[in-house]
Amino acid sequence: MKSRRSLVAANWKMNGLRAANGAWLKEFGARKGALACDVVVCAPYVYLDQLRHALSRDEISAQDVSSHEPGAYTGDIAAEMLKDAGCGWVIVGHSERRQQHGETDAIVAAKAERALQTGLRPIVCIGETLQQREAGQTHAVLSSQLAAVLDRVGAEALSSGALAYEPVWAIGTGRTATPEQAQEVHAALRAQIGSTGDSVRILYGGSVKPGNAPELFAQPDIDGGLIGGASLVAADFLAICAAVPK
Ligand code: PGA
Repeated sequence: MKSRRSLVAANWKMNGLRAANGAWLKEFGARKGALACDVVVCAPYVYLDQLRHALSRDEISAQDVSSHEPGAYTGDIAAEMLKDAGCGWVIVGHSERRQQHGETDAIVAAKAERALQTGLRPIVCIGETLQQREAGQTHAVLSSQLAAVLDRVGAEALSSGALAYEPVWAIGTGRTATPEQAQEVHAALRAQIGSTGDSVRILYGGSVKPGNAPELFAQPDIDGGLIGGASLVAADFLAICAAVPK
């Protein structure tokens, strides 16, 4: 039995339309009562309202947030708006945002700060690329990504949300970190967080499936997962959630 309650988050990314989401939520709603972990669904902005009719605030997350306060930022969404839309959580620093939208460590830290200022719980994502891993830079890269957030919002802020380790080379590739590789990184990250590290939930993400989830979630420093592709099928996501040790 772990001292931290596990958290499993479904990251739908830019997938799903209203009808399919409705079917997913219906199936999930009928079976989630049996789960032994906390669950969060991270939906595209325009479907947050649909989630609100099926889930509680603690189970609803956006996938990104503006680093700015409300104002002249066409197309962006402020933390206050997410709160108003029924969100309790928000992902910040996903590698797809870092890579496709040029988000730097400083921007990610500012987003985490905006989330915390408005009472949203951030899921802060960090991860190394394959090139960085092969060059032996994994620990240095992760440690500076984490430090940027810790320096700006402090370690305690992470206990209200979660930290997600997502090796970029494992996202959507079918290549997962081995449970031992992930455990080693999680333990190092927890040590870096310091005295509050024990209360921070550190999720693993990157090609988690029903078949590999039990071994990953059994690791002492892995407190659940951030699930992309496999979260699109409700039965698969439920099976992953059910893999959390009781
Ligand atoms: P994946 O995505 O499960 O499809 O690899 C994980 C993520 O990017 O959060």
